[in-house]
Amino acid sequence: MTTMTRQTQQESTATESLTGTLKDSQDNQDSQGSQGAVQPAISVRNLWKVFGPNAENVPGTPELAALSPRELMDQESCVAAVRDLSFDVAPGEVFVIMGLSGSGKSTLVRCLTRLIEPTNGEIFLQGEDVLAANEKALRDLRRRKISMVFQHFGLLPHRQVIDNVAYGLEIRGDSKAERTRRAREVIDLVGLSGNEHSYPDQLSGGMQQRVGLARALAGKPEVLLFDEPFSALDPLIRLDMQNEIIRLHKELGKTMVFITHDLSEALKLGDRILIMRDGEMVQIGTGPELIGAPADNYVRDFVKEIPFSGVLTLRWIMRPAKPGELLDGPELGPDVVVHEAVRLVLESDHSVKIVENGVLLGVVGNHEILRVVAG
Ligand SMILES: Nc1ncnc2c1ncn2[C@@H]1O[C@H](COP(=O)(O)OP(=O)(O)OP(=O)(O)O)[C@@H](O)[C@H]1O
Ligand SMILES: [Mg+2]
Repeated sequence: MTTMTRQTQQESTATESLTGTLKDSQDNQDSQGSQGAVQPAISVRNLWKVFGPNAENVPGTPELAALSPRELMDQESCVAAVRDLSFDVAPGEVFVIMGLSGSGKSTLVRCLTRLIEPTNGEIFLQGEDVLAANEKALRDLRRRKISMVFQHFGLLPHRQVIDNVAYGLEIRGDSKAERTRRAREVIDLVGLSGNEHSYPDQLSGGMQQRVGLARALAGKPEVLLFDEPFSALDPLIRLDMQNEIIRLHKELGKTMVFITHDLSEALKLGDRILIMRDGEMVQIGTGPELIGAPADNYVRDFVKEIPFSGVLTLRWIMRPAKPGELLDGPELGPDVVVHEAVRLVLESDHSVKIVENGVLLGVVGNHEILRVVAG
């Protein structure tokens, strides 16, 4: 880990100069809608994917749409892998999708580029109607706008690293000189310089996934989709790759949709997390929102393994000041993480005031802090 991290840091410095050229088209895109509001990178509206005979009848027939997964299978031999989902992903957001196995995560993400054809609903990519796209527009979308990184890397074993990375550029018809130049640039960016001419089976799992990442970045997509990209990696390499994603996101600012089973990974990478069960949305929110106000026991089960004090913010544990309570303690903002406030709160004689923009939102005292820290 230490060697890998050091290597990553060195390469990060070495590649900083590259990022001027790599921080690509997204910056030039007009992400402002006509109303001046920011246009979502991805909009999903009432999306359904039903597998089975007569699947297309399910979303539009209220009696069928209301069936439980069990009833839908018994009566119609259908599975609703995605059930009436609606959400937006903001430009530059890292949007995480979580849920138990079979909850519909992969199906949802594959629907976004129509690798799986949705049964019903709407999908917009930067305002463009994906379901209305003809074959040419769809090809363009997959080659230029959205790239995917898979759990099992999906590298071509008989091609060297550089040709694996350049593969998508070759398919879309970029010149040999251009694709070689671009492939070298992204190989450098993901810390694989010197391995251009290796074959995939000569690389470790972590390095192979860096190739997968470079290949996804090569076409300068605006959106990156990740389907459990690190779950085949051992834990230390996994941490290293998470840091790599954070660094790349900082440098390139791409919109990312990231599927994971691992809540600590979700909390580390995600701006917001969508939790799915049986194809449906159970909750969508930031880490502190999910932990501070879980929608139900399914979400509670997901978050219970996490040490809350590292994620939960003061906003979620503060209480209103009591009548007559002395308000001369120190002040903190509502988004300070509990872990960082423990000392100040416990050492202060009076409750800490939670203040935002000059407004007192509430107070946090020893009791509130200890309840979280003691679990
Ligand atoms: N081609 C298919 N035909 C029929 N059912 C399918 C098909 N693909 C997926 N399903 C079903 O849809 C549901 C959602 O599957 P999906 O692969 O999207 O789940 P997932 O959340 O990605 O699971 P995992 O965490 O195991 O990857 C499952 O019940 C699955 O059996
Ligand atoms: Mg899956």
